[in-house]
Amino acid sequence: MTKYDFETIIDRRNTGCLKWDAWSRRGHAADDLPLWVADMDFKTAPAAIEALTERVQHGVYGYTMATDGYYESVQNWFERRHGWRPEREWFVMTPGVVFALSMAVNAFTQPGDAVIIQPPVYYPFRLMIQDNGRKMVTSPLRYENGRYTMDFEGFERQLEKSAAKLFILCNPHNPVGRAWTEDELRRIGDICLAHNVRVVADEIHADFARPDFKHVPFASLGREYADAAVVCTAPSKTFNLAGLQLSNIFIPNADARAAFKRTLGRTGYDEPSVFGVTATQACYEQGEEWLDELKGVLNENYGVLQAAVDRMPGVSLVPLESTYLPWLDCSGLGLDDAGIKRLVEQDAKLWLDLGTMFGPEGSGFVRMNLASPKSLVQEACDRLEQAVKGLGK
Ligand SMILES: Cc1ncc(COP(=O)(O)O)c(C=O)c1O
Repeated sequence: MTKYDFETIIDRRNTGCLKWDAWSRRGHAADDLPLWVADMDFKTAPAAIEALTERVQHGVYGYTMATDGYYESVQNWFERRHGWRPEREWFVMTPGVVFALSMAVNAFTQPGDAVIIQPPVYYPFRLMIQDNGRKMVTSPLRYENGRYTMDFEGFERQLEKSAAKLFILCNPHNPVGRAWTEDELRRIGDICLAHNVRVVADEIHADFARPDFKHVPFASLGREYADAAVVCTAPSKTFNLAGLQLSNIFIPNADARAAFKRTLGRTGYDEPSVFGVTATQACYEQGEEWLDELKGVLNENYGVLQAAVDRMPGVSLVPLESTYLPWLDCSGLGLDDAGIKRLVEQDAKLWLDLGTMFGPEGSGFVRMNLASPKSLVQEACDRLEQAVKGLGK
């Protein structure tokens, strides 16, 4: 028996919802199922809805500051959930993590400098590097026996060759779903420390480690690692608050923090949104039970997908250690990427993120979002299964 409702299908169409409305705006059928962008089809934690309702009723929505209670709620969350307590002076608030990635690129590198990433990876990493006139250098993840690992030697070679100043780490990794272990993080961190490379750790999916896995905050590895780190966090994935536009960036090193803040200041962004602050504090203070129940639901949805994939010849599931975005290996279908796109969109009537969005290394894969009521996930899996079974008929 669950306390919270993760079963009701909430109609998000015609609400200016990116996930559900952008597809028909692009001319596609409205009854296609959109399991692409990483937000959830669930209502947020009731505590946040109550706090927001109260704040709405107050009626005055002027410039807003984070309160002591806000900072403590965030610090306590990371301490309770991840055994690592960010200090109060490390905080910098931004309207999003991608925004913060852009700030970090501008604060810590010059035009033309190299920034290193590990594709296949969340595609705005590439965009924030290239759109800011920096050079993207890649050290692709290794994919062997259905599992992804870091290529430490290749990474170090690329650092030496490119003289990169910045590494954008995805921890846990979207889209391959790895929750990097302490050992892996330490090895990659040691290479960065040895070459004086700053590490931007995008930890936005930190709260979604699946059973038997855990999130290791990069900055928890020790003082030198924290000193080199810009840790990007947000309640937006965890509690489905992306539309409220608020993230907490932790920068332990005072000089680095000052450089980041100078860059941020030039954008003209100053105070956070009143609703972002209100919802964040409520979720971090009172949303824990809701999150634990949600994770159980996501786990069940993963089971639904796993069972369906087992019935799809040519498709396999890369084991998901964290995030709610499993990565499906479709390379056994004998299709090129255009063929996979036709299969997903025309035959299965789904909107999924195609692997090549995450770099050429994603060729042959698709990413599916499991954060929807189980009946909807089941429907999407059925459609994909039928489409795969219909291939060549
Ligand atoms: C790894 C990663 N970073 C950042 C974001 C987006 O963050 P924001 O909406 O705060 O810019 C996402 C969203 O999918 C993500 O997967």
